[in-house]
Amino acid sequence: MRTPVIVVNFKGYLEASGEQGLSLAKICEVVAMESSTSIVIAPQMVDLSLMVKTVNIPVFAQHIDDVKAGSCTGHIPPEGVAATGASGTLLNHSEHRLKLADIDVLIHRASALNLETIVCTNNLAVTKACAELGPDYVAIEPPELIGGDISITSADPDIVKNAVKDVKALNPDVGVLCGAGVKTSEDVKMALELGTVGVLLASGVTKAKDPKDALMELASGIN
Ligand code: G3P
Repeated sequence: MRTPVIVVNFKGYLEASGEQGLSLAKICEVVAMESSTSIVIAPQMVDLSLMVKTVNIPVFAQHIDDVKAGSCTGHIPPEGVAATGASGTLLNHSEHRLKLADIDVLIHRASALNLETIVCTNNLAVTKACAELGPDYVAIEPPELIGGDISITSADPDIVKNAVKDVKALNPDVGVLCGAGVKTSEDVKMALELGTVGVLLASGVTKAKDPKDALMELASGIN
């Protein structure tokens, strides 16, 4: 994916399900085009293939499982995700935590399939541990700020600054994103000023009265 970037996680929000999810994906594509901003979506897994076929912006899975393709009913084999044409995957989201050993295996399996990885982390220690595993990106998101109206960039700018510094020292190839409560262009601007290569967000767009307006406003923080 191109950075600086806004990654929109559709989570399991009803506003981002089915037809509404499809409209939201199209809005993300239009805003990406109209604002010349790099926007990536992580739609609901049931819609992954449809989204990849419908929009011309990178589509990420929300999760992959460390299962062997084949007899794994109900799981998400990385090969299945790659076969949709998706560009990458989130891993270890706060709402879908993994063990470090599983994150390690999944980063390597994804990379072998040319899937980019964004590993979500909840604090500095986990950020450092995950950066050492060599994902493409880590995204620091303090769980207590997720879904709220106070952005990580104003609630705890130091955690973002320190994540950037620590990751740079450990593995300069890993880009740092931040997320949780990101709702305005000012939050996005601040995230970049703190040294990140973008933001991971959800409710600021999925729950917005007018998602297109909200995303346009957020994108103006990059441009
Ligand atoms: O994956 C993004 C997320 O956890 C942040 O959610 O609603 O605080 O933007 P939100």
